[in-house]
Amino acid sequence: MIIRRAISAACLLVWAVSASAQTPPPKAAGGDAADGAYVWNAMQGEKLVALGARGDAARGEITFEICQGCHRSHALGRPDGSYPRLAGQHITVLIKQMTDVRAGRRRNDVMLPFIDKHVASPQDIADIAAYLTKLPSPPNNGRGPGSDLARGQKIYEADCVSCHGQGGQGDAAQFYPRLNGQHYKYMLHEMIQIRNGMRGNSNPRMVEVVKTLNDADLEAAADYLSRLPTGQP
Ligand code: HEC
Ligand code: HEC
Repeated sequence: MIIRRAISAACLLVWAVSASAQTPPPKAAGGDAADGAYVWNAMQGEKLVALGARGDAARGEITFEICQGCHRSHALGRPDGSYPRLAGQHITVLIKQMTDVRAGRRRNDVMLPFIDKHVASPQDIADIAAYLTKLPSPPNNGRGPGSDLARGQKIYEADCVSCHGQGGQGDAAQFYPRLNGQHYKYMLHEMIQIRNGMRGNSNPRMVEVVKTLNDADLEAAADYLSRLPTGQP
C-alpha cells in the first residue's frame, strides 16, 4: 500500500513537471481534483501551525518586501488584474492561500519560489498575514466596463452573498475571501479558473454555482463586485 502510494506519487510528480499551464493542477489532499480524497480546506499540517501562531505585523512588513515586485507596495496589486490586491484580506484566507500554494493545492508557478518552504516558515506566513490584513484598501482598484451592473447584482445576490457577504466582505471564520476592493480582471480570471477546475483548491459549493454561469454572467458579477465600497467591514 505504502509502495503503491509512493509509486503513484512519483508518477504524479513526473506528470506535474511535464504538465503545461493549460492542464489542471496536480492532485494533493485538500485540492479540488475529482477523486475521493478531496476535502476542502482540511485542517492539517503547516496551515494549522500558521493559523495558531501569533503573527507579528512589523516583522511581516519586512518579510513582505520580496513580494512587492509583483503585489506592489502596500499590497495593492495591479488594476490590470495580473497581481491581486492583498491589502485588507482576512488572515485566515491569506494563510489558506499561501499554504495551499506551498502544498501544490493551488497552482502558482511564478510565485512559488518566493513563498516556498525553504524560503518562508509558517511563522513568516503568520507575520505576513498579520501585516497584510491591516493595510487599507483604497477605492482605486481596477473596475469592469459598467455595462451590465443590474445583471451582476442579481447574480451576486442570488448565488454569492451567502458566502461573500452583502458588501463583498467575505467571512474570516469560514475562510471566504473579501472581494470588495479586488481588481475586476483578477476576479474574473479566478472565477473562470474556479469554474474550469484549474485553481486547484476551490470551495466545491462555489464551483457548483459558477458552473451554472456563462462568461457574460461572470463578467457582470465581477464588475458589480469591483464597484462595492472597499475595505471594512
Ligand atoms: C512573481 C510574482 C509574484 C511574487 C514575487 C509573489 N506573488 Fe503572490 N501572487 C502572484 C500571482 C500571479 C497571484 C495570483 C495567482 C492566480 O492568478 O491565481 C498571487 C496570489 C497571491 C495570494 C492569493 C491572493 C488571493 O486573493 O487569493 C497571496 C496570499 C499571495 N500571492 C501572497 C504573496 C506573498 C506573501 C509573496 C511574497 C512572499 C508573494 N505573494 C509573492 C504573483 C506573485
Ligand atoms: C460556498 C461559499 C461560496 C460561494 C457560494 C461562492 N464563493 Fe467565491 N469563494 C469562496 C471561497 C472559499 C473562495 C476561495 C477559494 C478557496 O480557497 O476555496 C472563493 C473565491 C472567490 C474568488 C477569488 C477571490 C480571490 O481572492 O482569489 C472570487 C472572485 C469569487 N469567489 C467570486 C464568487 C462569486 C461571484 C460567486 C457567486 C457567483 C461566488 N464566489 C460564490 C466561497 C464561495
